[in-house]
Amino acid sequence: MIALGSDHGGYALKEEIKKHLTERGVPFTDFGTDSEASCDYPVYAALVTKAVSSGEAEKGILCCGTGIGMSMAANKVKGIRCACCGDCFSAEMTRRHNDANVLALGGRVTGPGLALKIVDLFLDTLFEGGRHQRRVDMVMAMET
Ligand code: RB5
Repeated sequence: MIALGSDHGGYALKEEIKKHLTERGVPFTDFGTDSEASCDYPVYAALVTKAVSSGEAEKGILCCGTGIGMSMAANKVKGIRCACCGDCFSAEMTRRHNDANVLALGGRVTGPGLALKIVDLFLDTLFEGGRHQRRVDMVMAMET
């Protein structure tokens, strides 16, 4: 299951991602928000990252205006490796090398066509492990 969340700035993109995941047959849970009314992105970052860190969700996708606030908030949570991506190469490499488990997108930065390609790469690309596992372990050790 993929956990989805957004604030008002990412709401429209989250709705596009929901349609896309439905078409792909990928199960998801929408943790909100549910309109373009102004709200606070850390609320939704907390809900989505809780689902990922507990194992309830395999991965998470967070959308705000830039993707930056969501990624900052998500990376405060233990066990989370969130990458804010606005291009396909970064989306592929953050899976292959960083084993990112949360993707952050900017609804005011990245158009829906590109954003959905980024989502597909994030969902479909495997972590390479090997030397990258050692580096990911070093990053995660910084939590303690
Ligand atoms: C909301 O106006 C905006 O600040 C938020 O969506 C996000 O871009 C924060 O990083």
